[in-house]
Amino acid sequence: MISRGVFWNLYGGAVYFMIARARPYQRMSADVVDRLALDGHMRLLDAGCGPGYHALTASRSKYEGLSITGIDFSERMLELARRNCVNATNIELCNVDLCEPLPFPDRYFDRVLIVNALYSLPDASTVLKEFHRILISDGRLVIADPKPGARVAAVFASHIREVPLDILLMPFVLPLVALFNAVILSKRKKAEYHFRSESEHRDLLSESGFVDISIVSTYADQDWLISARKPESGIEGPCP
Ligand SMILES: C[S@@+](CC[C@H](N)C(=O)[O-])C[C@H]1O[C@@H](n2cnc3c(N)ncnc32)[C@H](O)[C@@H]1O
Repeated sequence: MISRGVFWNLYGGAVYFMIARARPYQRMSADVVDRLALDGHMRLLDAGCGPGYHALTASRSKYEGLSITGIDFSERMLELARRNCVNATNIELCNVDLCEPLPFPDRYFDRVLIVNALYSLPDASTVLKEFHRILISDGRLVIADPKPGARVAAVFASHIREVPLDILLMPFVLPLVALFNAVILSKRKKAEYHFRSESEHRDLLSESGFVDISIVSTYADQDWLISARKPESGIEGPCP
């Protein structure tokens, strides 16, 4: 049995070359940053940042004064992120375990994003409450997370339709991706990983204090793209 950290270290080294190349991944990254509705002088947290591609997409946006913190508990992922983000002076990367209380003060970030990581966390509800705590009032959370039945093969099939020549890479890439995907699916079957329905996401976010929850499809229809807002006063709802 490999530990959670070791699994993600291996995943980072072996799989990301192809995932980051896939057009649906690049589009999802752009969609996530679009949904963040960034503005100048904001603080953005990329939680479970992996190799840092979404932090990088955000840093390439035109917003001056945007400062980005990427956190992950896999040293291998952070190594890749440091390499990928070497020229981005507004990105800071730190080793943080999302299963522990987050080392940031209340109302510190304007925006939080988490892509393809929430499903793997044993207690998503506590993590979402931590995001709520560290967000400013009116701050925004953007999540991308696998739909029930999500298949990475569908992402690559969609990519090959757009870039047919990349089929030549598949004999090298697909066995590795299939292997890691099999581990993810078996963890899902054992209920260690949770591929949630739209209504499960809505319930989790409402219970954690978020409002204005919007959910659409992304990543070649394999992921939900979710945005939610922390209400102005922390509590916002119909008048009593
Ligand atoms: C599938 S990768 C996604 C990476 C990145 N967000 C992306 O979309 O490219 C999942 C990431 O979540 C990280 N992760 C999983 N559990 C974590 C935890 N408890 N604390 C911090 N990071 C975690 C893994 O190390 C990995 O980098």
